[in-house]
Amino acid sequence: MSEIVQLPQAAGPIGVFDSGYGGLTIYSEIKRLMPEYDYLYLGDNARAPYGTRSFDVVYEFTRQAVEFLFKQGCHLVILACNTASAKALRNIQQLDLPALDPSRRVLGIIRPTVECIGCITKSRHVGVLATEGTIKSMSYPLEITKLFPDIQVAGKACPMWASLVEANEHLTPGADYFVKRDVEALLERDPEIDTVILGCTHYPLLYDKVRSFVPAGVSVLTQGEAVATSLKDYLARHTDIEALCTKGGDTTFYTTESAEKFRQQASRFLNHPVKANRISLV
Ligand code: DGL
Repeated sequence: MSEIVQLPQAAGPIGVFDSGYGGLTIYSEIKRLMPEYDYLYLGDNARAPYGTRSFDVVYEFTRQAVEFLFKQGCHLVILACNTASAKALRNIQQLDLPALDPSRRVLGIIRPTVECIGCITKSRHVGVLATEGTIKSMSYPLEITKLFPDIQVAGKACPMWASLVEANEHLTPGADYFVKRDVEALLERDPEIDTVILGCTHYPLLYDKVRSFVPAGVSVLTQGEAVATSLKDYLARHTDIEALCTKGGDTTFYTTESAEKFRQQASRFLNHPVKANRISLV
C-alpha cells in the first residue's frame, strides 16, 4: 500500500493588508520589532476608503486581498485595517480558510488593541474613533466588554478622516474642522472618557490634531505597538506558523493604484521612499 507523503510547505513572507496607506502605521511597528522577517504589504488604494462601504463589499475586497497574499506565498496575513478586521475577518476565518487552506492564518488588529485597554483606563470609560464601518459593526464595544465587562465604551464614526489622510490633506486647516467636530462629539457622548482609541490605522497621522482637541488627562492610543507585540507573542506560541515565515529582512510593496503614487505617498508614513508594484485584485 502506498503511503501519502506530505510535501514540506515553502515558507513565505508575512502579509500585511490595508485598504490603503494606513496599514503602513502597523507595518512600521511590526518591522521595527521584528526586522528579521520578510513582509509583503498590500494596499488596495484604488478602492480605498473601505470605511463607508457595505459589509458585503468590504468582505469581498478583503477576501480577494487575502487570496492574492496567499498566492504570493504568505502563510500568515495580518489585516492591518480595522474596517476589514471588523467586517471580514470572522467570515474569512470561518468560511474561507477551511476551503482555501486551513493551514494558513489570517489575524485582525482589533483584539490586540483591546487587550491592553484594561490597564490603561482608570475611569473605565473608553472612547473609540474609527470609520463608519468599524463603529457600526460594534466590534470594539463587543470585544472590550468580553474582556473587561466593567468598561463602558462610546464610539464616534469619523467618515472624513481616512480620506483626508489618503489624499494627503490631513494637515490642512480644513482637516481641523472634521477632527475637532468628531472628537468633541465623542467626548460629549461620554464626558468621563479618559482613554481614546484611534481605531483606524490611518489615524496616527492625525494624532497631534486629535491630541490638541482632547483634555490633557485623556490618553490617546494608537495601535501599532500593541499589534506588533501581540504578533511577536503569537509567533512565539505558534512555532509551526513561525517556521513558515521567511527571514530575509525584505519587504515588497503592492498597490492596486499607481506604483509611482504609492512610492511617493508611502514615505509620509515610513519616512523613506519605497518601491512598489501595481497589481489588480479583480
Ligand atoms: N485604515 C482602515 C482602518 O483601519 C480603513 C480606512 C478606510 O479605508 O476607510 O479602518
